[in-house]
Amino acid sequence: MVKAGGYGHGAVPVAHAALEGGATGLAVATLEESTQLRGLVDPEQILVMGGLLPAQAKEAAATGCGIAVSSRDLAEALAGAAHAVPVHLKIDTGMGRFGCAPEEAPSLAQLIAESRGTRLAGTWTHFAKSESDEAMTRRQLELFLDTLARFEVSPGMRHACNSAGALNHPDFALDAVRCGIAIYGCEWPGTEPALALRSVITHLRTVEKGATVGYGSLWRATATTRVATVAIGYADGVHRARANRGHVLVRGCRAPLIGMVSMDAITLDVSDVPGVQAGDTATVIGRDGDQVITAEEVAGWSGTISYEVLTSIGPRVERRHSRAV
Ligand SMILES: Cc1ncc(COP(=O)(O)O)c(C=O)c1O
Repeated sequence: MVKAGGYGHGAVPVAHAALEGGATGLAVATLEESTQLRGLVDPEQILVMGGLLPAQAKEAAATGCGIAVSSRDLAEALAGAAHAVPVHLKIDTGMGRFGCAPEEAPSLAQLIAESRGTRLAGTWTHFAKSESDEAMTRRQLELFLDTLARFEVSPGMRHACNSAGALNHPDFALDAVRCGIAIYGCEWPGTEPALALRSVITHLRTVEKGATVGYGSLWRATATTRVATVAIGYADGVHRARANRGHVLVRGCRAPLIGMVSMDAITLDVSDVPGVQAGDTATVIGRDGDQVITAEEVAGWSGTISYEVLTSIGPRVERRHSRAV
């Protein structure tokens, strides 16, 4: 799963690594995202999962990619394509977002399989609560399999699991799993995070008791405090919800984030960081010495999930890719 710029890591480098690591296909949300992967694999190995309008059928067919279809309108619009578009028919088994109704699926599958412009390359569904609700996930899978049993054509590749589905229900893997967050080393026990987010301290100053820091004067010194300003802000993915919340690593120490998050800067209390200097690295996510801050921990401070932490990392943050050793 390399949508949203490979969950913020960079789609193309992640795609390379995933393919080298044994992935047999790539998935994205939009047609535009699929064009970024052009040349890396046979287009048919790329699944465009997001919702498309019938008016986009021509553009979708031209990519040569696998196209997710949830509606008769889109299936019919693709059916007129000049070559057999590989279609992955999506069935809604409880997510309530994309997917055709299970009752509608057998006839849609037949339409896709038998039209000149389309081919049924796959059939799939998506779990709503695979991280937390075993009974619902099982019911969703059973509904999916019962629906497939009513097909009069081959369903092609059958896939249902996201990361939590694959982790909690390895027996639900079917023909493929669509792992996203897990390949980035998050939300899966024992994996190593693929990403670190680092910036630099640009200013240091000492403030006296009673002084305030940042927009809204949200933080007030209760004693003489050494304050570091770091060149990263909400435009780079440090959520404003982190005002006065959580830590950033400096010289292997946890420095509390103080005051409001600005667009381009955050401020830290570095009073307890020995030897701190302008130019020091500030680790927002990642390891520094014995200390580690994970995307999951940051998500707790931001009131969100690790996915949003990763995909919020802004475009101006320079991505540097290196190989795991
Ligand atoms: C349809 C679909 N499949 C798979 C995934 C991957 O999910 P995860 O990152 O939890 O593995 C997503 C992510 O949003 C998705 O929308």
